[in-house]
Amino acid sequence: MSEDLKGSVALVTGASSGIGEATARTLAARGAKVALVARRVEKLEKLASEIAGHGHTALAIEADITDQQQAIDAVKRTVGDFGRLDILVNNAGVMLLGPMADAPTEEWDRMIDINLKGLLYMTHAAVPHLREAAGDSPRGVSDIVNISSVAGRVASAGAGVYNLTKFGVGAVSESMRQEWSKDRVRITIIEPGAVSTELTDHLRPEIRDSVRARFDDIKALEAHDIAEAIEYAVTRPAHVSINEILIRPTAQK
Ligand SMILES: NC(=O)c1ccc[n+]([C@@H]2O[C@H](COP(=O)([O-])OP(=O)(O)OC[C@H]3O[C@@H](n4cnc5c(N)ncnc54)[C@H](OP(=O)(O)O)[C@@H]3O)[C@@H](O)[C@H]2O)c1
Repeated sequence: MSEDLKGSVALVTGASSGIGEATARTLAARGAKVALVARRVEKLEKLASEIAGHGHTALAIEADITDQQQAIDAVKRTVGDFGRLDILVNNAGVMLLGPMADAPTEEWDRMIDINLKGLLYMTHAAVPHLREAAGDSPRGVSDIVNISSVAGRVASAGAGVYNLTKFGVGAVSESMRQEWSKDRVRITIIEPGAVSTELTDHLRPEIRDSVRARFDDIKALEAHDIAEAIEYAVTRPAHVSINEILIRPTAQK
C-alpha cells in the first residue's frame, strides 16, 4: 500500500471501536501518524501497540470530548507530540433510538453532547492547526471528515433526536466547507447505513431487539468499508474535495 500520507498527522475520535478503530488502522497504514482519542484508554493503547507492530505510529489519548477542555487538550497533545495536525476525523458518536414521547431525556443530552458539541469542540480546537497544515503540507490541503449517517438524510419515527444530531452534522459541515474552502481545509461528510459495530449495544434492551431485528436479514457494512471511503476522500489530489459520501449495505431499504 502506498504511504502517501507520510508526514501527515491524523486525529480520530472514537478510535476505541468500530469505524474509528478501522479508520485509525487504515490511515496509519497509509503512512499518517495517528492520534487515537476516546474514553476507553486501554483499548486505545492496545490499538496503538498493534499499529506500532506494523511499523507505523499512533498515540493513545484518553479524552471525553463532551468536555471542551479535554477536547482542547487532546488536540494540544497531538500537536505537541507529532508537531502538526492535517486530518481530523470527527467520528465519536452515540445512537440512542426510541419513541420521543417516553424517552429518557438524558439520552437526548448524551446524543447532543457527543454527536454535536463534541464534534464542534474538536473542530474549534483543531482548525487553526488544520489551516496551518494546509499551508505547509506537501499535500497542499488538510481535511475534516465528519461522520453523519443515512439518518442525517432521512428522518424516521423512533430516531428523532439522532436524526436531529446527524442532520445537524450535515448542516454545519456545509457551513464549514464554505468558511474554510479558501484556507484549503476540505470538508467531507460520510453517511453510513447499517455498519456492524458496538453502536447498538448502548440502546435500551427492548429497543435494541427491535432495531437489530430490522437488520437481521441483511448483510451489514463492516467498519473497514467506511474506513476505505474516508481513506479515499483524504487521499485525493489537492484540487479535489469529496464533499459527501452516502454508503448503504446493498440490501438496506
Ligand atoms: N454503526 C452504524 O451502523 C453507523 C451508521 C451510521 C453512522 N454511524 C456513526 O459512526 C460513528 C462511529 O460509530 P460506530 O458505529 O463505530 O460505533 P461504536 O463502535 O460504538 O463507536 C463509537 C465510538 O465513540 C466513542 N465515544 C463515545 N462517547 C465518547 C466521548 N464522550 N468522548 C470520546 N469518545 C466517545 C466511543 O469510545 P469510548 O466509549 O471509548 O469513549 C467509540 O470509540 C458514530 O458517529 C455513529 O453515529 C454508525
